[in-house]
Amino acid sequence: MTTATTIVDVVGTARDRVDGRLKVTGAATYPIDVTIPGLAYAVLVGSTVTSGRIRHIAVDAAERAPGVLAVITHVNAPKLAHGAITPLGPPPLPPFQSDVVLHYCQHVAMVVADTREQAQAAAALIETTYERDTPVLAYDDPRASRVSHAWTPDHVRGDVRRALAAADVQIDATYSTAENTNNPIGLFATVAVWNDAALTVHDTTQWPHGVRDSLATAFGIDPANVRVLVPFVGGGFGAGLRAWPHVTLAALAARVTKRPVKLALTRAQMFTSVGHRPASIQQLSLGASRDGQLTAIEHVATSSIGMSDELINLITHGTQSAYACPNVSTRATQVRQSIPTPGWMRAPGEAEGSFAMESAIDELSYALGIDPIELRVKNHAHVHPGSGLPWSSNALLECYRQGAERFGWSARTPQPRSMRKGGQLVGYGVARAALGAYQPPCKVIATIRRDGTAFVRSGATDIGPGPYTVMTMLAADCLGMPIERVEFGLGDSAMPKAPQEGGSGLTGALGNAVHAACIDLVRAFVNRVTDDPLSPLKGCRLESITVRDGGIQITDDPARFETYFTILTRHGLDEMTIEAESAPPGETSSNTMIVREGRFLPFTTPSTGTRAHAGAYAAHFVEVHVDPELGIVRVARVVSAIDGGRILNPKTARSQIIGGIAMGIGMALLEETVSDRTGRLVTRSLAEYVVAVNADVRDVDVLFVGEPDAMTPLGTKGVGELAITGMAAAIANAVYHATGTRVRSLPISIEKML
Ligand code: MOS
Repeated sequence: MTTATTIVDVVGTARDRVDGRLKVTGAATYPIDVTIPGLAYAVLVGSTVTSGRIRHIAVDAAERAPGVLAVITHVNAPKLAHGAITPLGPPPLPPFQSDVVLHYCQHVAMVVADTREQAQAAAALIETTYERDTPVLAYDDPRASRVSHAWTPDHVRGDVRRALAAADVQIDATYSTAENTNNPIGLFATVAVWNDAALTVHDTTQWPHGVRDSLATAFGIDPANVRVLVPFVGGGFGAGLRAWPHVTLAALAARVTKRPVKLALTRAQMFTSVGHRPASIQQLSLGASRDGQLTAIEHVATSSIGMSDELINLITHGTQSAYACPNVSTRATQVRQSIPTPGWMRAPGEAEGSFAMESAIDELSYALGIDPIELRVKNHAHVHPGSGLPWSSNALLECYRQGAERFGWSARTPQPRSMRKGGQLVGYGVARAALGAYQPPCKVIATIRRDGTAFVRSGATDIGPGPYTVMTMLAADCLGMPIERVEFGLGDSAMPKAPQEGGSGLTGALGNAVHAACIDLVRAFVNRVTDDPLSPLKGCRLESITVRDGGIQITDDPARFETYFTILTRHGLDEMTIEAESAPPGETSSNTMIVREGRFLPFTTPSTGTRAHAGAYAAHFVEVHVDPELGIVRVARVVSAIDGGRILNPKTARSQIIGGIAMGIGMALLEETVSDRTGRLVTRSLAEYVVAVNADVRDVDVLFVGEPDAMTPLGTKGVGELAITGMAAAIANAVYHATGTRVRSLPISIEKML
């Protein structure tokens, strides 16, 4: 007789990372760590000019240098095709296809040698002469072409001009944000190996299938012949979302030399080779009635883009649904500049757009003399402002309420410069944050083996947020197995097709797929035993069982229990395996279920068209201390109240928020990629490009509020990019409250405070 077990879900509890030990002991293998017998090394040479043509590139000395296997330039490189348009847009142009130079440090030559030192030494012998053009480096340069935003359609509702003219109070302000560069600790590296027509690459990427498809196109081979491996990434933040030219070059080097080749970017090359957050200028106009009702929002954004590229930038996207306002107009334009190809950096566009929007709302609160939280609450979008549909979930008002209480907002005196601590000016600031719902398709394979272990996998990545951990927990609950017996695999394009880890979409995409696959796997076991006269589970249905202790029991009769091991053994099976795909949000079938405490419960989403699919929300509260003589701004305290729907692991989710806060502090106060007037980057190391470190991130408090979202079985909402969104505005608003100085240009550096 088996006694009834109390089943406690692992999901929802704060768990350590399953890969934590591997990481801290150095046993985790990042792409840059991969070594293979016979490995050769590739080193890249970058253009020293910003714009023009390569007139001559002298490679003879390099070719004769010790250990050199090949020197490849646009002169001898084979034709490489431009990758196809992906769900994220087209990849950057393929390398070495012409003599044209479009930006500083564009790859112009590659040396492959037996050792990295030999390749480096030979690379120094390459002499390149250029025909220089005048680079385009200003938005108002008459040669700068303007790209209307293919990926961020303009939005218009109501009549903004008329509403602004009729408003009691109007705010017009221009905000600017600096170019920022991702600085993951892991330098991006690619190790490429050809085996006849098959290509294997170990690559620092957030999207193995994206790199696979891009390489297949570049070399004109079947994607099935390309395998991309990345069990550990080393950080990404968006830098690993595009298939960058150096990845193609590593594969090219391996093909030309018939050796496995490793190509690792230097920190300096990271600044010019794997994208960045483009700079922006944004004009915000707000109209409101005297009592604080928003009547008009106009948001016009200009950001930079490379000379030959297409890039999604969601800079005005969040404005459309930010507040209940009848008249809204947004317009986003990109201007081509002679800059290294931009990419994505945590909350791309949204981080910049929310800085402008949430600063402007703060300015309005002072113009009206209304508390900044009260103004936001008053204009809260109780329904989706465009469609009028109720949200699938929205706890933003709770974020304001609970966050303000935790922070101690009531101690704030409204007048700027009215609060002090010692010799320091003290300021409190608040901002709203939101991220749109996003769940791309994802597939998962789940296996239960006869040895009583489960292996669940998908070709996704874990750039740090913790999919390894959270998906292991989820599978353990859905299968009723102890977490130690479940292995989650990812980082391999030979695994089922997964989307990028980006857009804060992976927990939902992968989680709903894991959930679906594990339920289908249990269903497959149920189907095996329900007609089996030898099984104590005979006659069972999914609805009547509980999974626990590596097996299945009839919920009402704990004695009727059987392990997966017993079932597989009796049926002569080594394993059972199921592949499944996540259902799109808002789509449930009669089969859809959720698992709670080992039981399978029916689940339906609201019918399509009755709800607006909500993303995640946050309210950020910041206390700054400003030295009135030196202009030094310190973020003393942050409280972020987060509506992330169902939180699968509060520990890893909290880490995501802390990381986003740290990046937000960097964006607000420190980070700025600087170029000289010829377009050459001058900040190309962590000494010159300053990121927030532990000393900059002091007292941080994260609280989770809200309910599971109704649109998917998992009920999660992506939080990866939520904390950096709005964080710069919360800090700028606190700086204004402390000092009375409104800084509309990021970063808020010391000289802007003096
Ligand atoms: Mo993030 S920019 O979606 O990796």
